[in-house]
Amino acid sequence: MSSFNPGLVASLSARSYPLARRILFNLDAETAHHLSLEVLSKLQAIGLRGKALPSGKPVRCMGLNFPNAVGLAAGLDKDGIAIDALGGLGFGAIEIGTLTPRPQPGNDAPRLFRIIEAEGIINRMGFNNGGIDAALPRASQRRYKGILGINIGKNKVTPNENAVDDYLYCFRAAAATADYIAVNFSSPNTPGLRELQSAEALRKLLAPLKDAQKELADKTGKYTPIAVKIAPDLDDEQLAAMSDVFAELKMDGVIATNTTISRETVRGMAHATETGGLSGAPVRDMSTEIIRKLRGYLDPKIPIIGVGGITDGADAAEKIAAGATLVQIYSGFIFRGPKLVHDCIRATE
Ligand SMILES: Cc1cc2nc3c(=O)[nH]c(=O)nc-3n(C[C@H](O)[C@H](O)[C@H](O)COP(=O)(O)O)c2cc1C
Repeated sequence: MSSFNPGLVASLSARSYPLARRILFNLDAETAHHLSLEVLSKLQAIGLRGKALPSGKPVRCMGLNFPNAVGLAAGLDKDGIAIDALGGLGFGAIEIGTLTPRPQPGNDAPRLFRIIEAEGIINRMGFNNGGIDAALPRASQRRYKGILGINIGKNKVTPNENAVDDYLYCFRAAAATADYIAVNFSSPNTPGLRELQSAEALRKLLAPLKDAQKELADKTGKYTPIAVKIAPDLDDEQLAAMSDVFAELKMDGVIATNTTISRETVRGMAHATETGGLSGAPVRDMSTEIIRKLRGYLDPKIPIIGVGGITDGADAAEKIAAGATLVQIYSGFIFRGPKLVHDCIRATE
């Protein structure tokens, strides 16, 4: 479809989203998720794909030129099956993953819950993905002209003492394809993963990754930045200690934040007691507060990508005001649809 106009498709999908949402929200959350991605992937296969550079004001971050400040957060298109179609909705960056060395099914269903009254989501997916080797050919064949991030993690069966092998495997496999790599130590749904956020564990994991980054850059001439994704459930002492490690190792960026294990903002609501990570509006202020504090502790040369609870343009602008250079959205996109992407692009220009 050579006359495809991504702007037109984005505006049509933004207008039809209220109807699509009514249909999707009548399905259980995971069925709706897979159906939406399947439709996007099919549309992409028949030629609906964003081949033009996404619009907006470019932002330089981690040595890369982001066409605008608004990215899709990890977890929505874990296996990279709809990068071009999602790109057509205007995102300046798309982060696929979390991808692990080997495929794994994730946790048993049900594992995804909407808290509609709070515009929140609880998930305990557990890194369900088809494995990094299966996703990379799709990612490298993308036509999307924005920035592609690849978010990497460890398999559930890999003990923490061997976690570095999983991250190294994924980094080496994906560095040529990705514009940047996000290392995820902050999902609450892989048992023990968050223990890797202690300063000592971080140093042990990140130092070999930085060595591999240099080795590959020397060999290939392509430097692939590494951003670390952190949890919102961190106290000041932990944030300060992590910031020291990030500066010492010259990390390229920090993505703040992942989902929270706190339930304070949704207490008493349907599904609020489900195990997993809470995202969407209920995590917004927590995540913004982490960004604000982190900006105080962190080397000013290290940029922050702000994510957590953005549901309108003002929320995106607030993350930037708190110290983020870029923003990402996930749950807000589920509740508000493609219009949110454009609202956030305008609000952060
Ligand atoms: C269903 C679901 C799955 C997610 N999966 C991942 C994942 O695989 N890796 C990751 O780093 N973050 C994952 N996240 C976290 C999001 O990327 C994001 O950090 C978090 O949801 C906060 O942003 P939001 O409030 O805009 O959703 C997931 C979130 C949701 C709702």
